[in-house]
Amino acid sequence: MYKWVISLAFYSIFILVFQVVYLASAADHYTRADFPADFIFGSATSAYQYEGAAFEDGRTPTIWDTYVHSANNNGATGDVTCDGYHKYKGDVKLMSETGLEALRFSISWSRLIPNGRGPVNPKGLQYYNNFIDELIKHGIQPHVTLYHVDLPQALEDEYGGWLSRKIVKDFRAYADVCFREFGDRVLYWTSINEANAAAIAGYEYGFIAPGHFPSSKVSSRNQTYVVGHNFLLAHSAIAKLYKNKYKATQKGYVGINIYAWGSVPHTNTREDIIATQRANDFFIGWLIDPLFFGDYPETVKMNAQTRIPAFTEYESKQVKGSVDFIGVNHYLTVSIMDRPITSDIITRGFDADKALWIIFDQGQPAPGEYPVMPSGLYGVLEYLKQTYGNPPIYIHENGQMTRRNGTLMDTSRVKYMHAYIGSMLDAMRNGSNTKGYFVWTFLDCLEILDGYESAFGLYYVDLDDKELKRYQKLSGKWYSNFLKGGNVISEPSKNAPFHLRSGFSQ
Ligand SMILES: *[C@@H]1O[C@H](CO)[C@@H](O)[C@H](O)[C@H]1NC(C)=O
Ligand SMILES: *[C@@H]1O[C@H](CO)[C@@H](O)[C@H](O)[C@H]1NC(C)=O
Ligand SMILES: *[C@@H]1O[C@H](CO)[C@@H](O)[C@H](O)[C@H]1NC(C)=O
Repeated sequence: MYKWVISLAFYSIFILVFQVVYLASAADHYTRADFPADFIFGSATSAYQYEGAAFEDGRTPTIWDTYVHSANNNGATGDVTCDGYHKYKGDVKLMSETGLEALRFSISWSRLIPNGRGPVNPKGLQYYNNFIDELIKHGIQPHVTLYHVDLPQALEDEYGGWLSRKIVKDFRAYADVCFREFGDRVLYWTSINEANAAAIAGYEYGFIAPGHFPSSKVSSRNQTYVVGHNFLLAHSAIAKLYKNKYKATQKGYVGINIYAWGSVPHTNTREDIIATQRANDFFIGWLIDPLFFGDYPETVKMNAQTRIPAFTEYESKQVKGSVDFIGVNHYLTVSIMDRPITSDIITRGFDADKALWIIFDQGQPAPGEYPVMPSGLYGVLEYLKQTYGNPPIYIHENGQMTRRNGTLMDTSRVKYMHAYIGSMLDAMRNGSNTKGYFVWTFLDCLEILDGYESAFGLYYVDLDDKELKRYQKLSGKWYSNFLKGGNVISEPSKNAPFHLRSGFSQ
């Protein structure tokens, strides 16, 4: 989401990049055994980013296909990507050899139910049954996301997709098929991936599907809020369905997922501290408050005015209490500075009004990489614990971005994972009810913002090779060592149980 930060920052008056003294507390030396036995460590993929086979066996186009095939994209598509649709068996074997305890992946709605509504596609059903069986055979727990930016294009064309309440009925019917067909083996269900970011980036800034960039006319700029509202209604509808129809027999859990960056005040001034709370209200509270309190935060309502839909009493009751866990995708920390209201903010961009976004520059990361700032994750986990009564949390995505240039020596990814997993352990030691951690991503795949330019994988995929051969990176080896009970330390030395070797390959 690096570019998201850039685009938000673009709307600010200026960007400050600065250094902060960070009081490091992250656990440095830990092993798998420091985490509870029922804690789950895994990695993640998503359907469009991993499967390929975009036009095969009855799958129909989604808004993501349409978006990447449009003229303003750089030509990178998910037509083939890692070809997981055909190569999943080998990949599950690699996951098993790596020691993954769980895999978070998503189901392609339009592969299972072409055009989004109507009969189930037997080939799609068979693919997911095979995939889930393969995971289970290897002792890998499946965690399924139902919606990951890939709305069937047919529903977008028919009624505007997530902008219409009609989506709730179709999403419920799709979820019903998934619960019925896969719920005997899948216990962990996430309704919507990065619900907040999907609404903001898809309907305010237009840099992910469906690429809406509403006009600057304030009155018409309500799409982000309307979509957010429909996400919540759709989520709560399937949570209710699961509870009434499946929970007693299947005994699983339904949650939602948000993108959460760490937010810290730029200075210790009262204004910046209040602005930081406002940023948390906009980016976390906007969609999480209703799930716990039945309404949007006051700050958001006040700033969004009539553009944000009001909950009816019935909706509020449905939404409140409809999550068993919160899924968190975390990569970055930003610092927040107060800013005076100007008409510029009101007419352009998401109205998180007075907050100014600043990329938090910890040290000097290489170009195209994220700063390592594990206190940001700690802060998010503390915030969720303190604000929402310590709900169960799954870190569904966390990982380091690098350039996709063929190197397997991804030391910056090792450093990043080491620091963030340590910070999560610290948060858990202070009471956070975090129950799982998934590295984004298992294999280098189509990335949402820049196609194949950046990479997050534990494995490199050679796109020039007809077989799309996979190669383990240093990070894959590091994670595997950790999962298998080895010690990890931050600066591997030659005496360390695991150390960096030059010329490492495979
Ligand atoms: C959103 O804006 C459109 C166009 O101005 C309007 O028709 C619609 O009623 C608005 N929706 C909400 C929920 O405010
Ligand atoms: C690949 O990118 C990394 C930064 O992500 C850089 O350190 C490294 O030198 C690059 N390698 C090549 C071969 O370009
Ligand atoms: C640890 O948790 C307590 C209770 O929620 C909280 O008051 C305290 O600020 C936390 N400590 C840190 C260092 O986050």
